[in-house]
Amino acid sequence: MTAGEANAYRPIRFLLDGKLMSVAPDDPTRTVLQYLREDLVRTGTKEGCAEGDCGACTVVVGELHDATVRCRAINSCIQFLPTLDGKALFTVESLKRPDGSLHPVQQAMVDAHASQCGFCTPGFVMSLFALYQETQAPTRTEINDALAGNLCRCTGYRPIVDAAEAMFRATPARESLSELRAKLQSLAGQPALAFASTDRTYCAPTTLDELAAARLAHPEARILAGGTDVGLWVTKQHRDLPALIYVGNVAAMKRIARTATHLEIGAGASLTDAAAAIVGVYPEFAELLRRFASPPIRNAGTLGGNIANGSPIGDSMPPLIALGTSVLLRKGATTREIALEDLYLAYQKTALAAGEFVAGMRIPLPAADSVFRTYKISKRFDQDIAAVCAAFRVTLRKGTIADARVAFGGVAATPRRATQCEAALTGAKWNDATLHAAMAALDRDYAPIDDMRASAAYRKLVSRNLLQRFYVESTTPDVATSVVEMTP
Ligand code: FAD
Ligand code: FES
Ligand code: FES
Repeated sequence: MTAGEANAYRPIRFLLDGKLMSVAPDDPTRTVLQYLREDLVRTGTKEGCAEGDCGACTVVVGELHDATVRCRAINSCIQFLPTLDGKALFTVESLKRPDGSLHPVQQAMVDAHASQCGFCTPGFVMSLFALYQETQAPTRTEINDALAGNLCRCTGYRPIVDAAEAMFRATPARESLSELRAKLQSLAGQPALAFASTDRTYCAPTTLDELAAARLAHPEARILAGGTDVGLWVTKQHRDLPALIYVGNVAAMKRIARTATHLEIGAGASLTDAAAAIVGVYPEFAELLRRFASPPIRNAGTLGGNIANGSPIGDSMPPLIALGTSVLLRKGATTREIALEDLYLAYQKTALAAGEFVAGMRIPLPAADSVFRTYKISKRFDQDIAAVCAAFRVTLRKGTIADARVAFGGVAATPRRATQCEAALTGAKWNDATLHAAMAALDRDYAPIDDMRASAAYRKLVSRNLLQRFYVESTTPDVATSVVEMTP
């Protein structure tokens, strides 16, 4: 019996301002924002874009993490309400103290005149509240990064960043979340959430075996992880998703471990957590992961979702392919392992069989004599989709390239290795002549398209230039790796 059949009508249970909310499930794709504004008339949380881009709808979700409550900003406009089950929700209305005084974040925003029309302000306050809860004294860059998912049309951001710095100088001690933690612990023991109506099913298994069984029982169901792709199919494309299997409550899917040879990351690990683990092993990955969407998207979105979604301009795949990553695909009790590049068959078509799901990824640890770089080219630094994403890894032995792995995104229907470029590199001395032969071979590897992000000609040129940049950086290691941005 799948989780769905076991508990067909348990309500969705989560905490709001520390109080238990019990919500009868109806449409599993109803968003947190719709629930807040329409059911609870908590209209402090705004709707701007309904696609995770502007931050006006930012709320904070508290989850048990080890012995603490971890508070993370997410976009409520693309988050489905049932995914709150077992969690704590904070909205801008949650922050005012019982005595009516403002939270240090709110007070700092008032003191710094960090709001004009005020439409964006609740979203900023919630991103800063999450930062306030999770850090002690962030740098200006960390504050800027924390706000990368919030757009303001009026203030020019300066007073908002000033307010962020000021709130950390404020003295009030952080409120203890121990009571909330105890309540979350009591919720943690509740049975898996699942409900079915005449035309809707939602199932949130809590173990890998339950997930595998649910997947076999409902091969037609859409797997839902962080919802940062799936959410937009509902809010922007108005697609109907009658059957969902939510992987976010399967702790084993969020497991991150380092073995003697690999970094193993569960498909359900958030991009935030996956990035922290990956950058610990591959610091060259940091720039790209910092530029992957925004913190609310990375907090909700998963690495497995990026890989399974298989977008031609998915940021994680080219570097993971260059690093020789394999992906674990599970069906029932059987798990198979394939090279990540073999997952992609054609545009938006993967090798996932019916009843299979992505269970995790295995990234080889760095080899002593290999050099790795990855670069994202996009119009904006933050919160932008790549025009081109490139990744290179060469193994050098006495100046000769013993092994080369080159992968690109944004230049073909799927993320893909540049096999002709690799052939021109492998076995050759890493010198100017080889570089130019490899650049010519790269031209033959891809036939990019023109689109709103870049022309085909630009994509070809920048791909060659990135290979040359890699050559410079891998042959003169003290060259600082800086950001290559597309000039407007
Ligand atoms: P979901 O939306 O939950 O699922 C995505 C797809 O994968 C669905 O088809 C789902 O069925 C499938 N799926 C998920 N998990 C599994 C699994 N374990 N097994 C099988 N199938 C599965 N992407 C980038 O690469 N770079 C960016 O800079 C970027 N910026 C973004 C900015 C915004 C504002 C938004 C809204 C999205 C952005 N994205 C970006 C896209 C998205 O955030 C990523 O692709 C994210 O990793 C998707 O993960 P998810 O967990 O939210 O997936
Ligand atoms: Fe714009 Fe949610 S309304 S990010
Ligand atoms: Fe008007 Fe920020 S104050 S959008």
